[in-house]
Amino acid sequence: MNLPEFTKNLLSWNQFSNSRQMPWKGETDPYKIWLSEIILQQTRVEQGLAYYEKFISRFPKVQDLAMAQDAEVFKYWEGLGYYSRCRNLLATARWVAFENKGHFPPDYEGLLKLKGVGPYTAAAIASFAFGEPRAVLDGNVFRVLSRYFGINTPIDSLTGKKLYAQLAQALLPTDQPGAYNQAIMDFGAVVCKPQAPLCSACVQQTDCEAYRLGVVGDLPVKEKS
Ligand code: ADE
Repeated sequence: MNLPEFTKNLLSWNQFSNSRQMPWKGETDPYKIWLSEIILQQTRVEQGLAYYEKFISRFPKVQDLAMAQDAEVFKYWEGLGYYSRCRNLLATARWVAFENKGHFPPDYEGLLKLKGVGPYTAAAIASFAFGEPRAVLDGNVFRVLSRYFGINTPIDSLTGKKLYAQLAQALLPTDQPGAYNQAIMDFGAVVCKPQAPLCSACVQQTDCEAYRLGVVGDLPVKEKS
C-alpha cells in the first residue's frame, strides 16, 4: 500500500516510541471498547482508568451490566458526572443483551444507532473491534492534523468538519485502522499536546507546516471559544 508520509511516520512512531499503556489498548471485545469510550467521552484518561477497571471487574460481560440494578450501576458511575451517560449505558447494555442476542452491531452505521454513541464512538468501536476502516475525529486528531497540514479552517465550522473528516479518512491505512486510530490519539496526547508540544523530538517535525511557520501554538482554530 502506498501510504501518505504522515501515516508512515505515525505508524513508525507508534511501533518504536509509543510507550503509552492503557488497559483497553489492543482490546477487540466490543463491550470493553464501548465501555471505555463511553467513560472517556467527558472524562480524562487518568480519571477514567480506575472507573473502567472497577466496571470490568464487576461487570465483565455486557449481560452482567444489563442484569444489574440501576442503583448499583449508578453507584459505580458516581463521580464521573454527566449522568445521562450512565442512563444510556444501561439502556444500550440491555438492548444488546436482551434484544440483540448479546451482540454489538458489527459496523459503524449500526453502532451509530445505539444510545450514547455518536460518530466518534462509533468509529472507535468499528475500527478497534471490527477492523472497519473508519477514521476517528476527536480533539487530538483535530490538533495533530491542523498543525501538520497548517489548516486554519475552524474545526467547529461546517466546512472544517467536512474537510477534517475527508482528510482523516484519506490518511487512514485500511489494513490497520484500529492501530492507526489509537496511535494518532496517543500521539496527540503525548507528543503533539495542546500545551508545550514536544516538537524538538517529533518524528513529523520536518514535514509539519505549523512548525515551519512557527504557529504550532495557534492551531487548531475554533470559531467559538
Ligand atoms: N480518549 C477516548 N478514547 C481514547 C482512546 N481509545 N485512547 C486514548 N484516549 C482516548
